[in-house]
Amino acid sequence: MTSYKSNPADWKKFAKFDRYRYTRNLVDEGNGRFNLMVLCWGEGHGSAIHDHANAHCVMKILQGKLCETRYAWPNLTSETEDNTHTLEELRELDRNTLDTNEICYINDSMGLHRVENSSATNPAVSLHLYSPPFSTCSVFNKQTGQKSACKVTFWSKYGERRNREIQDTRSPEDN
Ligand SMILES: [Fe+2]
Repeated sequence: MTSYKSNPADWKKFAKFDRYRYTRNLVDEGNGRFNLMVLCWGEGHGSAIHDHANAHCVMKILQGKLCETRYAWPNLTSETEDNTHTLEELRELDRNTLDTNEICYINDSMGLHRVENSSATNPAVSLHLYSPPFSTCSVFNKQTGQKSACKVTFWSKYGERRNREIQDTRSPEDN
């Protein structure tokens, strides 16, 4: 991931944008060992605050810039049945802008994060490697720290656009 220099000829066929939200496009499943994907971020598009399901996550910017904001895990200040209710705003740990060809790494021991394309004029594209692969993660409410399960979905696989129905059923908190 570090040594690769972004060349649009390599990844253009996977980079499928949506007008409304960022998209996640599967490139390779690594024989079940990892998921490699290309994410496409229109102007102002961003993810929810999420964890990484006990996996390693490496992200490299292929085009444009992305802002990564890292948060601490919420404290369990009040017990509920699912033990996830906190009603405390998530504490920001740090914030970095990543330029084309820069990489960042995160796993659950480093906290949670949100990724955004804060540019009003330029789209962004990023390459993500998750190992082991996962199909659900958690998303968090910034104001309350409350968490909810989120299914990982793909806008396209292997450079082929998926059927419209699948694309339209994405959950709003999908990240
Ligand atoms: Fe992430």
